[in-house]
Amino acid sequence: MKIVVLGAGYVGLTTSACLAELGHDLVCCDIDDARVEALNRAQIPIFEPGLSELVGKQVAAGRLKFSTDAQTHAGRADAVFLAVGTPSDEDGNIDLTYVEAAVAGIGPSLRPDTLLVVKSTVVAGTARQLKELVDAVRGDSAIAVASNPEFLREGSAIGDFMEADRIVIGADDARSEAVLREIYRPLTRRGVPLVAGKTVNAELIKYAANALLALKIGFINDVANLCEAVGGDVTAVADGIGRDARIGSAFLAAGPGFGGSCFPKDTRAFASIGRRHGAPQPLVEALIQGNDQRKADLAQRIIAAAPSRGRVAILGTSFKANTDDVRESASLAIIPLLQQAGLEVHAHDPQPEAAKRQLTDVDWHDDPLAACRDADVTVILTEWDEYRSLNLKRMAETMHGHHLFDFRNILSAEQAARVGLHYHAIGRPDVLPKAKARGQGTVAGLAVAASPA
Ligand code: UDX
Repeated sequence: MKIVVLGAGYVGLTTSACLAELGHDLVCCDIDDARVEALNRAQIPIFEPGLSELVGKQVAAGRLKFSTDAQTHAGRADAVFLAVGTPSDEDGNIDLTYVEAAVAGIGPSLRPDTLLVVKSTVVAGTARQLKELVDAVRGDSAIAVASNPEFLREGSAIGDFMEADRIVIGADDARSEAVLREIYRPLTRRGVPLVAGKTVNAELIKYAANALLALKIGFINDVANLCEAVGGDVTAVADGIGRDARIGSAFLAAGPGFGGSCFPKDTRAFASIGRRHGAPQPLVEALIQGNDQRKADLAQRIIAAAPSRGRVAILGTSFKANTDDVRESASLAIIPLLQQAGLEVHAHDPQPEAAKRQLTDVDWHDDPLAACRDADVTVILTEWDEYRSLNLKRMAETMHGHHLFDFRNILSAEQAARVGLHYHAIGRPDVLPKAKARGQGTVAGLAVAASPA
């Protein structure tokens, strides 16, 4: 099929490359000339494992092209996927400006049998609203609008597309559903389940799924606080509850709170729709508040451990591993609070470009241990694999102080304590430095309790 995707961001690019891989003929359009020009040379503006190779392969095979001329290409398409941005304001209201502009721009040139598919995350009822818009700009009612939300995680987007747990399609007429089924046939033939229903249900599935996943994270973070208070271990608790098949073990890793381009925005939008329609979502409202507060609370823990005007090394600024994305990352909330408290921040991230643009007054280092040099406190904020194998002995030697906050629970408490670090984890007992504890009785003003190792 001839498919046009509008928007060459994370979702648009991944969708385009993957649909081309399924054998369709793709043109991905964006209004940004420089981006399109770079993409035609197979230069990818984002870091996503495997995407650059897949785009290169599909461009070389002639199945994927990039263009700024959405009107012309949409006019020849069997289906047009809308994957432009849907930013939200503080209250969670979704801004449809880009989606509406895209629809108004291409509407008049569409063939009457072209299916318009909403891929961007939008509030329930948007597909129906866009149907009214496209009818108005064309002066007919020929174009059908369907919904096909994405469930792609950054860092594993291609695998999530190709081996999806399920494909969700929303269509308000049989032909639209048949077109979407045909587009995804190469995947469903391989056994990927497809869930079909009305557009409004597909739109709600996207938000409800993300809200429930975010609730799991918020819940386990609250459990982590309780574990800290009563001497429990959240990793053991998560393992124990996750083995109940009704609960499942995924999304139970306690950490610095969820971030990224989806969960914070989608939970705010979900709560906002609930308020607007008189169907409040108190669980999600509390979740949003708790997640914001968590980042502030963790910053306070660091500030409490650091000497005044001390130096903090932050390892990891992306909102999670395997992405360069810092949108709503814990680092963007925590680092400014540390700076306001008078602390000097040194940082490392394997993909620091976006973070460098967002954060000010941070000293960046190419090597994690260089960032730790002379630091009073080191904080792990992102679970990059390279931090799991950090040489803790060298970290302890290069640091000035000895506090290590592992906000992703990826390091060995035992090892950290053995090399003289005071290990602070999430939802697990602190472990005091062993070597110094035995020899000295106190460590830099800390009363050394029997280490609970
Ligand atoms: C998410 C959804 O998973 C995806 O289906 C949706 O389409 C887009 O939003 P993404 O934002 O890429 O994907 O990241 P995800 O891996 O889901 O993590 C979101 C946040 O939750 C990150 O900040 C991550 O660190 C945090 N998280 C995740 C935890 O703190 N603990 C966990 O157990 C899992």
